[in-house]
Amino acid sequence: MKRFLVAGNWKMNGTVQSSRNLASEICHKLHQTPEILNTCEFLCCPPSLYLGSVRDVCAGSPVSLGAQDCSAEEQGAHTGDIAADMLADSGAAYVIVGHSERRSDHNETSEMVSSKSKTARDNNLIPIICIGETLDQRQTGKAQSIVREQLESSISKALTAEDFCIAYEPVWAIGSGQAASEDDVKDMHEFIRKVLSEMVDNADTIRILYGGSVKPENASSLASVANVNGFLIGGASLKADSFVGIGKAVAKH
Ligand code: PGA
Repeated sequence: MKRFLVAGNWKMNGTVQSSRNLASEICHKLHQTPEILNTCEFLCCPPSLYLGSVRDVCAGSPVSLGAQDCSAEEQGAHTGDIAADMLADSGAAYVIVGHSERRSDHNETSEMVSSKSKTARDNNLIPIICIGETLDQRQTGKAQSIVREQLESSISKALTAEDFCIAYEPVWAIGSGQAASEDDVKDMHEFIRKVLSEMVDNADTIRILYGGSVKPENASSLASVANVNGFLIGGASLKADSFVGIGKAVAKH
């Protein structure tokens, strides 16, 4: 049984020094409460530029590292892009792909996300493939059809159940302070599991994370929902207290 994944998406925040400080505080808190690690795996995804600095701080700690995006290309003439292989070389074990902010800021399509998921896996990174509907799509009753379509086109056919995680992040819950209700999360995670089982063998082993306004106060109840196998955390991952606090709440439960 895989541990519950507590993943922090630091987004475009911080400096070299503040990233090092945050990582150091997280490692320190985990060192003081090692029992949480029986239940939870902790992952920090700093800006790629700071991966090396954070890796040095986290060396020897149980914290895994990830990046927030990678190129679909292996290497070469792609100015400004970062190859999956470079991320692995800088200490990343995971990479987030297809976050809704990438889909909206950079017009990333599910087909592009699928290529990225394959390149990531080919370079020994576990892609965390993000999906989720907008408020308008939910209000017009399209949430499940959108999520199905995103799943079917964002996961490379080359991947097996062992190769990836899914993060369900309803766009309207991201950064809004208002997480999805337990009932909505339950229904959607169950639906995602069903769609995954139509796509790959052993779909019951795939970690499906929930993301969108997760905080220490709602972590325990959201973690108790069936088919929630981790969290992708934005705002609350930028403070060691709240990030590790989320893990504590999950472990206590
Ligand atoms: P949030 O962000 O926790 O600040 O809502 C989640 C995410 O965007 O991954």
